[in-house]
Amino acid sequence: MGGTSDISGFYKLTTQERLKRVQEFAGLSDQEVQVLASTGALKAEDANRMVENVIGAMPVPLGVAVNFLINGKDYLIPMATEEPSVIAAASNAARIARQTGGFTATSTDPIMRGQIQIVNVPDPHGARISLLKAKEAILSEANACDPVLVSLGGGARELEAKVLSTSAGPMLIAELLVDCRDVMGANAVNTMAEAVAPSLERLTGGKVYLRIISNLADRRLARARVTMSKEAIGGEDVVNGIIMAYAFAAADPYRCATHNKGVMNGVTAVILATGNDTRAVEAGAHAYAARAGKYQPLTIWEKNKEGNLVGSIEVPMAVGTVGGLTKNHPVARTSLKILGVKTSREFGEVLAVVGLAQNFAALRALAAEGIQRGHMSLHARNIAAQAGAVGDLIDTVAARMVAEKTVRVDRAKQILDELTAGNAARTKL
Ligand code: MEV
Repeated sequence: MGGTSDISGFYKLTTQERLKRVQEFAGLSDQEVQVLASTGALKAEDANRMVENVIGAMPVPLGVAVNFLINGKDYLIPMATEEPSVIAAASNAARIARQTGGFTATSTDPIMRGQIQIVNVPDPHGARISLLKAKEAILSEANACDPVLVSLGGGARELEAKVLSTSAGPMLIAELLVDCRDVMGANAVNTMAEAVAPSLERLTGGKVYLRIISNLADRRLARARVTMSKEAIGGEDVVNGIIMAYAFAAADPYRCATHNKGVMNGVTAVILATGNDTRAVEAGAHAYAARAGKYQPLTIWEKNKEGNLVGSIEVPMAVGTVGGLTKNHPVARTSLKILGVKTSREFGEVLAVVGLAQNFAALRALAAEGIQRGHMSLHARNIAAQAGAVGDLIDTVAARMVAEKTVRVDRAKQILDELTAGNAARTKL
């Protein structure tokens, strides 16, 4: 168990061989390997417990990004995604980063915010002061909801209150700041927000409507940094191209949305693999990107005095290593074991690194050969399959289309017709 995540040629192994390497690295049991190998391992009874009106399951491929070295620790990173190139690109970025010591990452305490909306308060500013005066009692009432979280060192830490001027008149918003430790926190925070609402109505004379967590998790941030040597990434021109790409995103929301989509290609894939809430983190990331009133890139790319590329990222990371689906979904459970993170903070740090790596890989490809070349071979295989190729014919048809630089279903069908006509003629002989 353990060892290096620097596994050259991982992509050339068979699925069985890859599973064996991952099993050795993460100490997986044979049963856990079996869960992964069966590729759709969700029992109907489990699915029925998760959501309503179940009629099946929708498996997406689960891969492993290799080469990651973060704060001196090796990670194999499970990623669930339908998009070709994402896992290869992350692994490639991590391989380059290893040459300069890998990534460093840090994080804040895992604090989430629960909002309680109080309306029809005759004196909202005065009521705000009354709420803040009763802070200790309100926090105790919130903490009484979750003795387990409190016993683990978490719980409601702070109460804030603000008066908003809205289209429906003034509103008093009370906010509970809750240390969620290793859970994502939605259940814990929502329960607390609902529990204190009657007291808040009594204290303010107003009426409570919404009691819900905020996904703008700006008190639960993960940060990462990397230096890439200019030689390793293709020279000064590529460094300049990446910095220009960043500057473009910082100046233009149309480009910035795509830049941040590239960051989230990696982040979301890991979150999905571990059964966490992809939408919560995406909402938080994009809202955080717009926190200054202008939509901005989640990453920053600069040049150091040696001319090497320096990348950094700061992003909210509302994720858990316990609770939710992390234990109940067999693949999520196994993914977390492969990842080997001990706390939600460590998990957030790994996710920030993956976002930075993914963004680097996209910008490097865009600034150099363009994005299509990397996509081409897997895309061509999908198109060949769509055209009706099966078995070895998928690779043969795909290779012909890539060589011709024409990846289209109509061309795939022509090639397939040629190949199968040849086979039919040989069969007759
Ligand atoms: C594609 O899924 C993601 C990219 O468009 C990101 C980017 O443009 O930075 C390649």
